[in-house]
Amino acid sequence: MLQTRRHELRLRHNNNLKMNKIDVLLGLQWGDEGKGKVVDALTQRYQVVARFQGGANAGHSLEFNGIKHVLHLIPSGIFHPSTTNIIGNGVVVDPIVLIQEVEALEQMGINASQTLHISKKAHLILPSHRALDAASEAAKGKDKIGSTLKGIGPTYMDKTGRNGLRVGDILRPDFDQLYQQLKARHQAQLEQYGASTTIDTADEAQWMAAIARMRKLTLIDSEYAMQQHLADGQRVLAEGAQGSLLDIDFGSYPFVTSSNTVCAGACTGLGVAPNRIGEVYGIFKAYCTRVGAGPFPTELFDSTGEQLRTIGAEFGATTGRPRRCGWLDMVALRYAIMVNGVTQLIMTKADVLDTFATIRVATAYRVDGQLTDQLPYSTDAHIEPVYREFEGWQASIANARSEAELPKQLMDYVRFIEEQTGVPVRIISVGPDRNATIVRGE
Ligand code: GDP
Ligand code: IMO
Ligand code: MG
Repeated sequence: MLQTRRHELRLRHNNNLKMNKIDVLLGLQWGDEGKGKVVDALTQRYQVVARFQGGANAGHSLEFNGIKHVLHLIPSGIFHPSTTNIIGNGVVVDPIVLIQEVEALEQMGINASQTLHISKKAHLILPSHRALDAASEAAKGKDKIGSTLKGIGPTYMDKTGRNGLRVGDILRPDFDQLYQQLKARHQAQLEQYGASTTIDTADEAQWMAAIARMRKLTLIDSEYAMQQHLADGQRVLAEGAQGSLLDIDFGSYPFVTSSNTVCAGACTGLGVAPNRIGEVYGIFKAYCTRVGAGPFPTELFDSTGEQLRTIGAEFGATTGRPRRCGWLDMVALRYAIMVNGVTQLIMTKADVLDTFATIRVATAYRVDGQLTDQLPYSTDAHIEPVYREFEGWQASIANARSEAELPKQLMDYVRFIEEQTGVPVRIISVGPDRNATIVRGE
């Protein structure tokens, strides 16, 4: 009897070892690294793509057949008809944005309501959460975060405060009552801010109509779903939103978003155990950008920064705000690689540097006169980056489709990054299109 039990346990243990792992792709900077583009380009290798945190503060662009698409909530695998797309429990869902995206995709002939599965444990963003986001930012005055005002912070606050409404609650007969209770709570908070407590009735009606549509979508328990997909031998890619330097714990607090954008967030945001994580793809731009307030040591305020913004079309995919631009920062990159356990790097937008005669990279900081290779705790610290210069390649790489076509100066830059980080650069993206993606060694 005991022997049979042991045998069973051993079998289960062996099956667990054989089970597929999930790969995670996440941003290593302050967001907008090109996650949407690369996830879309890699989706043919995966059967499942899953978002694990954030919400419609994200704007993930992807491009194919000459058309650019921007997704805010729906995973970037949605354009591949055989891929299952999961919105995990760690995401905060604005029903209006969700349904608008589903409808826009359906108008393009993509059967999104069929291939999209949403965790019942994901939290709902109410119109009053968005109002609170705006009131909170207004109250901060000159210290504001530069939030996208999509209601992200207040919704995560309700989640951790144990007041939130979850997607699964929309199936409860008393949902309307629960909604009214939470709204009333928010109105009391708005009053404390001295802000208007009126919630736009048209916005509310649209929200309720979106909830009605959501009831017809596939609502799941993402932890069981992930387990099943992996047990069935399917390949799963988790798609991060924002970037590691905007992480609630490891970013430049308080100038961060309200979720764990790092790899650990994929475990808690989907319900997969840490030992089920496979490859961790860390994506970074060949330079840096940031949108919103907060420290940015290598930021450029001169014509070079302007050049990066113009050539790189650095304007927010969600808010349209101009992105702050600067040189690549190895101190920050090494930190992000460390907290995520990155196993492979992906470099995007190298083509934006095509015309630059000289490229600079920060390799260390001087903080209050002291040389350091670590990020300082204080966001007020006076950081002076120590730069290393590289010769530019001054040639167009936009049409390159293999490593052999890339100029020597670019490959020197890539090898330097590999040496500095100890992690291979597996993919080099040379344009916004799905095809402008060079996978090294293939
Ligand atoms: P995400 O939030 O990480 O998905 O990135 P965004 O979509 O917000 O911003 C990246 C921008 O760069 C988008 O406009 C993309 O179309 C574009 N993009 C992505 N990869 C490349 C690349 O390799 N070269 C160029 N020139 N543009 C790129
Ligand atoms: P993707 O997924 C870049 C920034 C905002 C602000 C801070 C907090 O497209 O890379 P929030 O709305 O979360 O309260 O804003 O975080 N931010 C992003 N910046 N890309 C994003 O997403 C971002 N999502 C939030 O600009 O500084
Ligand atoms: Mg973006």
